[in-house]
Amino acid sequence: SDSFDFAERLIQWYEQNKRNLPWRDTNNPYFIWLSEVILQQTRVNQGLPYYLKFIETFPTIQDMADAKEQEVLRLWQGLGYYSRARNMHYSAKMVVEKWNGLFPTSYQEILQLKGVGNYTAAAIASFAFGEDVAVVDGNVFRVLARIFGIEEDISSHKGQKIFNELANALLPKGKSAVYNQAIMEFGAVYCKPTSPDCPHCIFADKCLAFAQKKQETLPIKIKK
Ligand code: ADE
Repeated sequence: SDSFDFAERLIQWYEQNKRNLPWRDTNNPYFIWLSEVILQQTRVNQGLPYYLKFIETFPTIQDMADAKEQEVLRLWQGLGYYSRARNMHYSAKMVVEKWNGLFPTSYQEILQLKGVGNYTAAAIASFAFGEDVAVVDGNVFRVLARIFGIEEDISSHKGQKIFNELANALLPKGKSAVYNQAIMEFGAVYCKPTSPDCPHCIFADKCLAFAQKKQETLPIKIKK
């Protein structure tokens, strides 16, 4: 499909519209990992004070690894899904034991951490190390499905492959960090699930969903 100047437009929009969030001002993979684990099932406004509290209490991954699980869980109190905190603590110890306290630097290695899936590994590898790997989360499914008019079921294996391949084809080499932040931010604050402001969108001239009035029906997710 026609990828026009998708990435360039998106990055320009991001530079003008991004929220200032503390994990965007760091290359520290441990801080980025922490923010992504917190944000997996938590909104930015709720997660922010937890992120700040965690980096203050555990400034390095060694500090977290040295803590008792109970201490980590106490700091996590109120965020829910406590397996996230347990996996995080387990992974901190794993980094200390397996990588001598140095956070793994490649997508494939990061994926070995407990509780870290494709999305989180891609986020850390691109934001911290500039690896050219695309993030694919709910925001990315929505943005790509709409603009490129993709009607594949995002919950199917085939659909995930199609979206993953498109996301990586659109990724501008050497700019994965800013591009990945940009597409997630655009999905989160502009190309929203309901009532997106399509007439004023930077992609209004290209968006297939808008042209076909399908913005409220894409992406397609067949509940199993
Ligand atoms: N949600 C998940 N990751 C995020 C990030 N890096 N910035 C803002 N929101 C997010």
